[in-house]
Amino acid sequence: MSTNYQQELAFAKNIVVEAYQHCKSTLTMTVSNKTPRDLVTNLDVAIESYIVDHIHAAYPNDQILAEEQYTDTVIGNGRFWCLDPIDGTINFSRGIPYFGVQVALVENSIPVVAAVYLPVLDELYEASLGGGSYLNGQRLSANINRLPHEAIVAMGDLSKRQNPQAENRRRLGAMEAIAADVFKIRLHGAACVDTTSLAGGRIDAYIMFSFGLWDILPGLLIASEAGACYRAIGGGEFTLASKNIILAASQPVLDFILERYNSLGI
Ligand code: IPD
Ligand code: CA
Ligand code: CA
Repeated sequence: MSTNYQQELAFAKNIVVEAYQHCKSTLTMTVSNKTPRDLVTNLDVAIESYIVDHIHAAYPNDQILAEEQYTDTVIGNGRFWCLDPIDGTINFSRGIPYFGVQVALVENSIPVVAAVYLPVLDELYEASLGGGSYLNGQRLSANINRLPHEAIVAMGDLSKRQNPQAENRRRLGAMEAIAADVFKIRLHGAACVDTTSLAGGRIDAYIMFSFGLWDILPGLLIASEAGACYRAIGGGEFTLASKNIILAASQPVLDFILERYNSLGI
């Protein structure tokens, strides 16, 4: 484990578990529509408030970017905590076990600490920059030798837009472009499940077409510290301003997807 950020890593690991367990044991879930095609529960809001209050108390100079109540934070080069109180809310609201609480600390535009808690699966993931990734204390390794025809590739959800047809055609086109040449395609509906599954070797790539930074940054550090590689679709370097991402366990899988998308103009 890297010697830097140990205190922040311990804080992140603790808070994702504590916030979920506290809110789950004290609240009964209520669900409302955020938009016609998206939901939010009272636990999303309560977990976020719980984590934010604890960040303010422990790290009063750090900024916060979070999905429910802190979306407009202007990110500079300083430190900020990026959190998604429940990633996979629709799964959570329907009793599908693929959801989690996730937090990253970002410094100079780079995630340096991450924790992801998948409560139903009883999995707590952690990573620090240069310190590797762990699941329940066990070191993780992505499938760095995976070949494209062996790869299980997960993709983000279809569009949440009210009129999703055009965006869905793009995403389904991206799926069709690779489906016949990889082993399997999966849509789990939770970025936290896909990024951590990539880190742990359950799947071999994850493609996401649009996201909030809270969807992707915690899992990005966990996957990359397990050996995964990543680029923006089109092949450019991924930055905090990127609109999409391909993460892959191996360079051959990443190159295959990038080349296929480049040749088809996706
Ligand atoms: C969503 C999930 C989903 C992804 C969506 C995200 P939410 O997060 O991660 O897998 O495809 O783009 O918005 O809304 O459940 O926190
Ligand atoms: Ca999310
Ligand atoms: Ca969320």
